[in-house]
Amino acid sequence: MAGYIPQEVIEEVRSRADIVEIISEYIPLKKSGGNFKALCPFHNEKTSSFMVSPAKQIYHCFGCGVGGNVFNFVMMHEHLSFHEAIKKIAANVGVKLPEINKKSSIAETLFNKLLKANELTMLFYHKQLLESREAVSVKTYLKSRDFNRATAENFKLGFASSQWRSLFEYLLKEGISDKVMAQAGLISPRQGGGYCDRFRNRLIFPIFNSYDKVIGFGGRVLEDGQMPKYLNSPDTPVFSKGKNLYGLNLAKKFILEKDRVIIVEGYTDCIRAHENSFKETVATLGTALTVEQARSLKRYTKNFILIYDADDAGELAALRNLDVLLPEGVMPRIAVLPKGSDPDDYLRNSGIDNFNKIIENTKNIFDYKLQLLFKKYNASSSEDKVRITEEFLPTLSLVSNSVLRSIYVKKLAEALNVGEVNILSELSKFQKAVYKPVISKDVNKKKFIDLAEKILLVIMLDDNEFIANAKKELSIDDFISDDIRPIISKTFELYEENKKVKPAALIDELNDDESRILITSVFLDMPEIKDKEKNFTDCIISIKKRCIESKLNRIKLKQKEAQQKDMNEEAQELLKEATALIKERKELTKKKNYG
Ligand code: GTP
Ligand code: MN
Repeated sequence: MAGYIPQEVIEEVRSRADIVEIISEYIPLKKSGGNFKALCPFHNEKTSSFMVSPAKQIYHCFGCGVGGNVFNFVMMHEHLSFHEAIKKIAANVGVKLPEINKKSSIAETLFNKLLKANELTMLFYHKQLLESREAVSVKTYLKSRDFNRATAENFKLGFASSQWRSLFEYLLKEGISDKVMAQAGLISPRQGGGYCDRFRNRLIFPIFNSYDKVIGFGGRVLEDGQMPKYLNSPDTPVFSKGKNLYGLNLAKKFILEKDRVIIVEGYTDCIRAHENSFKETVATLGTALTVEQARSLKRYTKNFILIYDADDAGELAALRNLDVLLPEGVMPRIAVLPKGSDPDDYLRNSGIDNFNKIIENTKNIFDYKLQLLFKKYNASSSEDKVRITEEFLPTLSLVSNSVLRSIYVKKLAEALNVGEVNILSELSKFQKAVYKPVISKDVNKKKFIDLAEKILLVIMLDDNEFIANAKKELSIDDFISDDIRPIISKTFELYEENKKVKPAALIDELNDDESRILITSVFLDMPEIKDKEKNFTDCIISIKKRCIESKLNRIKLKQKEAQQKDMNEEAQELLKEATALIKERKELTKKKNYG
């Protein structure tokens, strides 16, 4: 089980563990300039694109895009949780981990505070379930659903009693402030002041992230018919619905082993699947699979098996959601259960063998969609042929693999009894006219990072003295690259807290895949910056100028509007604003030329 490790201890382990030494224990590294190179252990390759930087204590593979610090490497290579990886490295470098001290008074970041509150809450509810007298009701309920004690322990199920403030009082005693409890979504404000526990009289499902940290909870009523059936944690700084997946912490090892992931909808479906040897199962918690979830699963496997409860009306709608997976290079397969049963019921009533048959009979998204369309429409009517084509093309157009595309063009043409050329011409019309590549635009935006912003980040982390200056000169909103903004923001925040800000530590602080990979790719891609002062000033000026340009553009638009509407006063104001900005721009240019 994950425990809380104080920040200083993590720092101590990090400072003693040299990334080159540790990675060398796993794969041979070759010196290459100031860095080291290797064949990437995380994908198949013939030339080395895996780079390790001893100066920055990070690695990045330019072939498959993985990256991180020494902890991430050991986690990825050995499929360990964060806690386990630290334990392992700590033992290697001779740092003794302290006993978990719940009341340690160390100054922690909000992130850690929330995780700690969640961890204590999980333990509290779990203990209540196993030991409290009131838990008879929930135990009876679990029994009635055929969930045994081992399952309750494995998934750390819990019980929130019907008392108003039992968690609140427990956490208070453990030194958690009401502010942190509220931010973690564990308590809710009461009318007339004060707080009460958010979850009452519910069976509790703690939600872990893939590093085994408790990030949120789901609570189910014990009697059907009460509303809402499930109450979940609200979105908090550590939990966001649509990003996390239930069961991933337990499943990830098995997803890798079996090279496939089974995706179900509900908590109980996921738990039942694990109990029946389908340990590669995760749950989306009632929502359709999102791009973020797909991206996090894609690191383990590209073979996605989605299991739906049969519900004709919802099926095509559900499929539309799956279209977002195609540009990610994931080809989902879909299994449908008999009407009226979900994976939990089905496994209980029909057993493992039948469930296996369902999985063996999955169809990929194209075959499945075609089948549904042919069910919905009458393929012998010419209008319906057009409709089928119209509904099928958006999905097909998202596949970049032309072989795959041509296979399905052929299939569709044959099934509709029309020529392939007709389908192809519709496809190309569709792609030109209707198809706005929402997804790929998104990807482009993600890849676009303003060079000045990149260089600025590198300089600031190379030499933290520059951070104060950058903070004085720029605000977070001045950065246009969406992906870099949270990194800069965290950099400023840590600097405020008088902490050293280094890439390897920043990676743990941010604790999300996208930021981590962005940091490692930027730092391993950037040549050493020689004249930091000059480059720093140039970057600040360039970012500022760009902000001025965009402000001016906005003013121009407003000016046009004001003129059209004859709003003279407003136009005057805008002119003043514009003049000031133009002056500012001039001064920046001068500064750049003579600075
Ligand atoms: P059981 O009835 O306990 O078997 O749950 P289930 O998982 O079969 O429920 P269902 O198929 O109705 O819902 C699937 C998932 O959607 C659940 O596991 C929840 O995560 C989510 N969900 C269902 N009902 C609610 C609700 O009322 N509120 C919220 N927030 N989520 C819900
Ligand atoms: Mn169910």
